[in-house]
Amino acid sequence: MALQALSEEVGYAAETIGLTKIYRTGTHEVYALRDVNLKIRRGEFLAVVGPSGSGKSTLLNLLGTLDKPTSGKIFIDGVDVSNLDGSRLARLRNEKIGFVFQAYNLVNRTSVLRNVELPAMVLGIPPAERRRKALELLRLMGLEDKAHRKPVELSGGEQQRVAIARALINDPALVLADEPTGNLDSKTGRSIFELLRRLCRERGATVVVVTHNLELAAMTDRIVHLRDGRIVREEVVEG
Ligand SMILES: Nc1ncnc2c1ncn2[C@@H]1O[C@H](COP(=O)(O)OP(=O)(O)OP(=O)(O)O)[C@@H](O)[C@H]1O
Ligand SMILES: [Mg+2]
Repeated sequence: MALQALSEEVGYAAETIGLTKIYRTGTHEVYALRDVNLKIRRGEFLAVVGPSGSGKSTLLNLLGTLDKPTSGKIFIDGVDVSNLDGSRLARLRNEKIGFVFQAYNLVNRTSVLRNVELPAMVLGIPPAERRRKALELLRLMGLEDKAHRKPVELSGGEQQRVAIARALINDPALVLADEPTGNLDSKTGRSIFELLRRLCRERGATVVVVTHNLELAAMTDRIVHLRDGRIVREEVVEG
């Protein structure tokens, strides 16, 4: 309880304490994360970098409560998520967390607009309101003229922006993006990062982004370097 109060007081969007994740496959054990202590401020734009297999996606999945740690604690917005049951976790995810994955997981049967509206439908937001919000986000992404197209008719960069709009429809306090620019050209990648930065600056969102691209990572506030499941270095980006 004391930790929870403290976490709320200083306003961390997310905090991990001694976070450890071990994957057990047969007799084999993989330490995907070891004793990771990380405090992420509200409104911070944070990059997570590191070699393949260093634990970046594992960290993001744990922060997103999609997976459970082997040991250690995670606080989201001051709430100790290890104490929440499945349905409360699902609600917390839908209300507070926006996920952007490299595979956009867009539904090609329906329009771009409906794709963006989907998480708001799940929350039971009235149709007129969710439509207004979806259109506003598509405008922010420079995609208002594509609202009635099918995702499959859009370019990779445009689809990625649709996925970002969808991640933002419920005004998540925390946006988690796992290599959102992985298969985009460098100009589009840059514009996605500029957009994520604006989210932090203009909407007060907290954004954690995994990237292999150090040039893009330099556009964030802070870079956390992972290696073999540990934080080996942190850099505060100047300017
Ligand atoms: N479901 C799983 N079962 C067993 N081992 C896993 C599982 N998921 C990840 N691992 C292992 O945990 C370690 C960390 O994996 P993780 O996916 O977090 O790495 P990553 O930094 O995201 O790598 P990449 O840059 O390639 O995406 C790796 O050694 C990986 O093989
Ligand atoms: Mg990964």
